[in-house]
Amino acid sequence: MSEPKKMIGAYLPGDSSVAFKEYAIPELKHGEVLLRTKASTICGSDIRCIYNEHLGKGPEAYQQEMVAGHEPAGQVVACGPGIREFKAGDRVVIYHISGCGVCNDCRRGYQISCTSEEYRKAYGWQRHGGMAPYIVAEEKDLVHLPDSLTYADGAQVACGFGTVYEGLEKIGISGNDAVLITGLGPVGLAAAMLCRCLGAKNIIGIEAMPERIEIARELPLRKGDASIKLFDSVLAAGPDNEAEVRALTGGHGVERAVECSAHHEARLTAIQATRKWGKIVLIGEGGTLSADFAPSRDMIHDQKTLYGSWVTNLWRMDELLERLARWEVHPEDLITHRFGLEDAAKAYELMASGKCGKVAVCFDEELEA
Ligand SMILES: NC(=O)c1ccc[n+]([C@@H]2O[C@H](COP(=O)([O-])OP(=O)(O)OC[C@H]3O[C@@H](n4cnc5c(N)ncnc54)[C@H](O)[C@@H]3O)[C@@H](O)[C@H]2O)c1
Ligand SMILES: [Zn+2]
Ligand SMILES: [Zn+2]
Repeated sequence: MSEPKKMIGAYLPGDSSVAFKEYAIPELKHGEVLLRTKASTICGSDIRCIYNEHLGKGPEAYQQEMVAGHEPAGQVVACGPGIREFKAGDRVVIYHISGCGVCNDCRRGYQISCTSEEYRKAYGWQRHGGMAPYIVAEEKDLVHLPDSLTYADGAQVACGFGTVYEGLEKIGISGNDAVLITGLGPVGLAAAMLCRCLGAKNIIGIEAMPERIEIARELPLRKGDASIKLFDSVLAAGPDNEAEVRALTGGHGVERAVECSAHHEARLTAIQATRKWGKIVLIGEGGTLSADFAPSRDMIHDQKTLYGSWVTNLWRMDELLERLARWEVHPEDLITHRFGLEDAAKAYELMASGKCGKVAVCFDEELEA
């Protein structure tokens, strides 16, 4: 089968708009595969760093007119020379940063932290991403998508779910834990879904936008089964949040907190509403911590531990996909809106408004779903 030589892809000029242009589909080099894109979901970081303005520096700097989209899943349609594991027809997710493969961080699977200025390139930032019908990817960046998961499930593992899973593994979540999640965008919703699967029983969310509070209150763990909700309680963001969380936890606070808003006050709430010996992970990016943070009062004297967590590694992404299949949960259940590529402008505008759950740009069978 001969593949097209050109395609129309979407890029982000940085003024809250989406633009389209024609891109050449190059000959595959050693170690490269061509994917037919099936689902490409939008992350909060796309809005923060690229869509509204080109904010990023260093590893977050967006290169002009790169095809956007760093959460892609698709099907292998052609293989370049030297491909070892994947073949045409395989269903795959792309780890969204291609690294040099040989620095210490790449060897740990954390291509996100690759130290090579020349070879570290994120899909949708410094090399072409998922907002086009085809993607040229490196074989070493691919992870197999289990049969029982959809491409829309897989796309979210490329960044959002992978990131959350990494953060939860750092702090450890089990049936022992009450968990607070601050910021209920797609990342916070993913945190709730995975905390449920890991056994947490008292999951409390805090969110600022009324539309998202509503979505978080309604969402079940599995579509069609209203008996298990994602959250036990969802609170509106406000000055009494710490007291409210304590009231929901017998006065103690939560064992674990997952901060997904990046808001300085929510970060402080996550720390203060965590009980003695508890653990907190910061996932939301940018901004600062409230000036009211008092380390001795808020952390040191209560023996708390604070983690930062950036994306995940390749093997953990593979492991998460296997577990999602075993738990029989679907990240796609968090998608509230799907668009064709020609409507990508509507998709980004909706995600930027926040009046949604996860937003996806889809192709072929995923658009019909
Ligand atoms: N650490 C990482 O590796 C990593 C990876 C992916 C995304 N991120 C970051 O994670 C964050 C969440 O991603 P997302 O896609 O869900 O983004 P998002 O912007 O859609 O979600 C953030 C949510 O926080 C809410 N919020 C704002 N102020 C609040 C407050 N005071 N209290 C409670 N909620 C508040 C917003 O209303 C919004 O719903 C973003 O900052 C994103 O850049 C980090
Ligand atoms: Zn992301
Ligand atoms: Zn590297």
